[in-house]
Amino acid sequence: MTSCFEGTAFCIHTFGCQMNKHDSERVAGMLEGLGSLPVETIEEADIVVFMTCCVREAADTRLYGQVASMKNIPVRDGSPLLKRYIAVGGCIGQRDGEKLVEALPHLDVVFGTHNLASLPALLSDAVQRHGHSVEVIESADTFSSALPTAREHSWAAWLPITVGCNNFCSYCIVPYVRGREKSRPLEDIVEEAQRYVDAGVKEITLLGQNVNSYGRDLYGEPRFAEVLDAIDATGIERVRFATSHPKDLTDGVIERFGALRSLMPALHLPVQSGSNRILKAMNRRYTREHYLGLIEKLRAVVSDIALSTDIIVGFPGETEEDFMDTYRLVEEVGYSQVFTFIYSKREGTPAAKMEDDTPREVIQERFDRLVDLVQRKAYETNQAELGQVVPVLIEGTSKRDSTVLAGKSPKNQTVHGPVPTGRAAEQLVGTIVPMRIDEARTWYLSGTVVDG
Ligand code: SAH
Ligand code: SF4
Ligand code: F3S
Repeated sequence: MTSCFEGTAFCIHTFGCQMNKHDSERVAGMLEGLGSLPVETIEEADIVVFMTCCVREAADTRLYGQVASMKNIPVRDGSPLLKRYIAVGGCIGQRDGEKLVEALPHLDVVFGTHNLASLPALLSDAVQRHGHSVEVIESADTFSSALPTAREHSWAAWLPITVGCNNFCSYCIVPYVRGREKSRPLEDIVEEAQRYVDAGVKEITLLGQNVNSYGRDLYGEPRFAEVLDAIDATGIERVRFATSHPKDLTDGVIERFGALRSLMPALHLPVQSGSNRILKAMNRRYTREHYLGLIEKLRAVVSDIALSTDIIVGFPGETEEDFMDTYRLVEEVGYSQVFTFIYSKREGTPAAKMEDDTPREVIQERFDRLVDLVQRKAYETNQAELGQVVPVLIEGTSKRDSTVLAGKSPKNQTVHGPVPTGRAAEQLVGTIVPMRIDEARTWYLSGTVVDG
């Protein structure tokens, strides 16, 4: 069944969140298992897989345009398949299924978020029948983590602990495309983590739409703090997690920031809005006061914890006063990073039916004001790093200059610095080296390796 893919080349385009990045590594693992080799560009590839995102409209429209334009790219010389096969997976695949091949007749394969494992069979089917192969299922009992993988970096691994989401924030499409929340048994998680540690992985990022509610479906109560304990016990150097819903962040998890050696002092805690009225309309189920209380508790445990967040500007009915509540919250918390989004209407979500009459220019002006503040705050928080020596996990070299190392501090800040004399950048990739911070910019720090 698999032999027709020997000698072919594949390329994967990934959009959206870390869950898609994780799934793409599994797709790569499966395609390599078929005898196909990874390449960088569509032109060189016989199989192109799009791992898609529909959380906002812009990504959605772009995907349709991009697949449409592929008709014009010639098949590569010597392609064993004599044609370029195009597959769309991920959240748009899940949502649109057959509709995709109706709109894009040259598309060969569509799969969804629950059936990654079917991709090899769907591709073979499309090759054999010279026709479309579409399969989307509503849910699955298995986790994609069980599939073979081709991890992008040898020193870092994504580790999903839950899939799906039960929160139904009123603006968000994710629960409709990823299904209900399901937790993986703790033993499976620990076993996978241990395998990574044994293979030399330095950093594990635990994934879930809301990791804080881990275990509710399996054990009747959230047990995320215990996951953190168990992962720490594997001996891993660094642990991060994404994402956390503020309504479910427990005191136990907050305490682990002080207690566990491996848990990095950085937390992404999406607030979405600083206005209680808007938070209610978003169905977020916490208040501004509750959120600020969490920040206070976190800082009591790790005084300089790096905080990041997501904010939506222009939610239906947002007034200037609501926006200013968000603005003041950002000012008060002092985030090191804020991902700012303009509200995007998603059909099928409750917010799509809410009255939305704020002019586009007003929303854009609020957005710009917020971005200015975010940058100012990020610059200010980074200044506190000047002169500090921090352990940096080297990820590679700077995109602009191959003589400059690029890595991540415990607080997840990007750190640049010259490759020390007598050392090769490749030797340092994937290792943790101490660097003294000499310069602090808005989005990165610069430093010098201090161990010679
Ligand atoms: N489960 C995660 C991530 C969800 S998607 C969480 O709850 O944090 C990532 C971010 O996209 C969200 O935090 C939100 O800020 C943004 N987002 C989701 N739906 C959106 C929409 N309809 N319009 C604009 N931004 C949206
Ligand atoms: Fe979307 Fe809310 Fe679930 Fe996050 S918690 S994925 S924002 S519904
Ligand atoms: Fe996008 Fe799907 Fe993630 S919609 S944000 S890729 S869960």
